[in-house]
Amino acid sequence: MKKFLVLVLFAALGVCASYAKDAKENYTTYCKNCHGAEGKGDTKFGQKFGCKDYSDPKIQAAIKDEQIFKAMKEGVKKADRTVMQPYNEKLTDDEIKAIVVYFRTLAPKK
Ligand code: HEC
Repeated sequence: MKKFLVLVLFAALGVCASYAKDAKENYTTYCKNCHGAEGKGDTKFGQKFGCKDYSDPKIQAAIKDEQIFKAMKEGVKKADRTVMQPYNEKLTDDEIKAIVVYFRTLAPKK
C-alpha cells in the first residue's frame, strides 16, 4: 500500500512538472515577442503596442483570470484596432488555462 501511494505521488508530481513546462514553452513561442520573457513588455513590439508590465503585482492584481483567458481566446483590441491576435486556433482551452497559471507566476507573490 505504501509503495502504491509513493507511486501515485510521483506520478502526480510528474504531471505538474510537464504542465508547467508546456505553458512556459507556449508562452515563449507565442507571447514573449511582445510581453517579454519576464512579462515586462520591454520588447520592441511590446513598446510599439504599449504592453503593460505584468511583472508588477499591482498590474497583475488589476486583471482577472477570466480576462487573461479571454485575451488569448479572443485577442485584445484597443480603440477597434487589434493589438493582440486571438490564439484560439493555435492553443487548446487547456493550454490557455495552463498559460494563465504561468502568466500569474510572472509577478512575484506578495
Ligand atoms: C503582437 C504582440 C502581442 C503578442 C504576441 C501577445 N500579446 Fe498580449 N497584449 C498585447 C498588447 C499590446 C496588449 C494590450 C496592452 C496590455 O494590456 O499590456 C496585450 C494584452 C494582454 C493581456 C491583458 C488583457 C486585458 O484585458 O487587459 C494579457 C493577459 C495578455 N496580453 C496575454 C498574452 C499572452 C498570454 C500571450 C501569448 C499567448 C500574448 N499576450 C501575446 C500584445 C501582444
